[in-house]
Amino acid sequence: MKYLKDLARRNLKEKTAILRLDFNTEDNWRMAASVPTVHFLMKKCRSVVILSHQGRPAGFEAPLSLRKKALSLGKLIKKTVIFVPHFRFKDIRGLIDASPAGSVFLLENLRFLKGESENSAGLAKQLATLGDFYVNDAFAVSHRTAASVVSLPKLLPRYAGFELEAELKSLNRVMKNPRRPLVLILGGLKIEDKLDLARNLEKRASAFLIGGALTLGVLKRNIRKAIWPIDFRRENGVIKDIGEMTEKLFSGKIKSAKTVIWNGPVGDIGRKEFRSGTQAVARAIARNSAAFTIVGGGETVMFLKKLKLDKKIDFISTGGGAMLDFLAGKKLPGLAALESGKF
Ligand code: 3PG
Repeated sequence: MKYLKDLARRNLKEKTAILRLDFNTEDNWRMAASVPTVHFLMKKCRSVVILSHQGRPAGFEAPLSLRKKALSLGKLIKKTVIFVPHFRFKDIRGLIDASPAGSVFLLENLRFLKGESENSAGLAKQLATLGDFYVNDAFAVSHRTAASVVSLPKLLPRYAGFELEAELKSLNRVMKNPRRPLVLILGGLKIEDKLDLARNLEKRASAFLIGGALTLGVLKRNIRKAIWPIDFRRENGVIKDIGEMTEKLFSGKIKSAKTVIWNGPVGDIGRKEFRSGTQAVARAIARNSAAFTIVGGGETVMFLKKLKLDKKIDFISTGGGAMLDFLAGKKLPGLAALESGKF
């Protein structure tokens, strides 16, 4: 795989970069994670064309337009981002050619085109006409077989952006050579993904702390080294959060860990009265300054940010499903596309 830093000494003044980012979060923390990549390309290239997505639209859906994201990105990079509200590729090419050097463009939500999710070769070809080389700084969508993630990079010289590089470095570190004890906290909803992860890290991990909505589903299954909640907070018989004794049990395990990976809240954090368990986990991780700590998953990261504990974490992964797939040992199609081919 080639990295953006490999381009540091190259003269790219006449080149247009196509940059895939992931803006699929309510606030703009994923966008913020890619600002160094945008800055680098903006300074070095003639222009930068950003591709992204939001939600899972079926065709055009006004609330999922990226128009507002262009304004947010503009504020972050302190430069006007030219929003392109259509997919007339010849016109877009004309606009790029006619714009002053240093221009940054953002195309409309690519998922408005069904070819994006269907990984259409035709769409990839059209996108490739917009620039000279491709950069993926969208780890969070790299587990999706989409045209702009998988087919497009194969048509151009391709590189991993700074944020993607940081993801690979941190996730590889905890997967291949974690300082032990390695403790994982698995909560949230994506049950199957997390089971694969548990299987893959079974040998290296000391404990999997299982909580939240996940609990009922996995209680019936057999995960080696799983530590189950010993009490719960319930509403009408339904498990809504781990209980006080479990908070203590989990906090103790986290305290003695040398590597901690967390993905998914352990309770229904949409409700104030069921946030206690997830807060206890967040605080225990933040307090363990001796451990290398990684947290991922949109909801989990937002929660940490609200508690103002995100700065205490060694690495915040932008990936939700992508982080889980990576830790489960699956080859992410977007990463495979960066590695393959003739360039
Ligand atoms: C994410 O938010 O996890 C990515 O942007 C992928 O989104 P998706 O799950 O809708 O494909």
